[in-house]
Amino acid sequence: MIINGETSVYGIIGYPVKHSKSPIFQTKAFEYLGINAVYIPFEVKPENLESAIKGLKALSVKGVNVTIPHKEEVIKYINEISQEAKIIKAVNTLKIIDGYIIGYNTDAYGFITGLKEVEPDLSGKTALVLGAGGASRAVIYSLITEGVKIYIANRTKAKVEQIIDDFKTLTKYITDFIQYIEFYRIEEILKEVDIIINTTSVGLKDEDPELFDYSRIEKKHIVVDIIYKETKLLKKAKEIGCKYQDGLPMLIYQGAKSFEIWTGKKAPIEIMKNSISMY
Ligand code: ATR
Repeated sequence: MIINGETSVYGIIGYPVKHSKSPIFQTKAFEYLGINAVYIPFEVKPENLESAIKGLKALSVKGVNVTIPHKEEVIKYINEISQEAKIIKAVNTLKIIDGYIIGYNTDAYGFITGLKEVEPDLSGKTALVLGAGGASRAVIYSLITEGVKIYIANRTKAKVEQIIDDFKTLTKYITDFIQYIEFYRIEEILKEVDIIINTTSVGLKDEDPELFDYSRIEKKHIVVDIIYKETKLLKKAKEIGCKYQDGLPMLIYQGAKSFEIWTGKKAPIEIMKNSISMY
């Protein structure tokens, strides 16, 4: 790759950002398609977000991904927001055209595209979603648009109520689609459930507890953990013989969609996947 006066600059803003795999696969994608561009990790502390955004505009950066902890906060500093990002209340992709910033959320697309690799036929299915934070909102948005019925288990019930309220614009039958469930009652509904999805950070550490009794999972369940590793939940799913998936497909597909928004070109998915040797 040659960097010259015409090289376009893209990147990711987050804090921390060192662990991010996006620079690896986005760079590979640019290289593969012969696009003269680089993709840089930018470590941006929360107190510097506003000046960082001004800096991106001033330096004619063409686009960035936005990750933790800026996905919600960044909305204050953009000119336009896509429909799905507005409902999800989180932006993970910025496209910057002559200082005008448009915010998108490609996490929802990323999640559902990954899930369809293990279950193409989602309509009419029932999912159990663990967690109701930022990541969960993108997951839930995508599931509702596919006609999936959802139980949400979360410590804080108010966050589920907020999701129901915010997602009313998607369907007037939202309360038929989303129901709150306490963690301790999960076993009562597992028979009805087709897909189990962990969106919490529980499982990131090996010593983390189970969110419910994982030995109650059945072979018929499809189990997804959006964490990028084999968590206790995924190990159990594998042991039971379920179809399962970690967070890497979601990561790749959200990035692929961002790439397409920036370049207008179809993202080279296999190249991107291979670059982080996930399969
Ligand atoms: P993200 O952007 O990764 O989704 P977040 O918005 O902070 O992060 O959401 C974290 C989610 O993990 C929340 O649903 C949180 O539950 P609360 O809403 O009750 O805080 C959930 N979570 C984090 N730690 C947890 C724990 N130890 N047990 C259960 N849920 C937990």
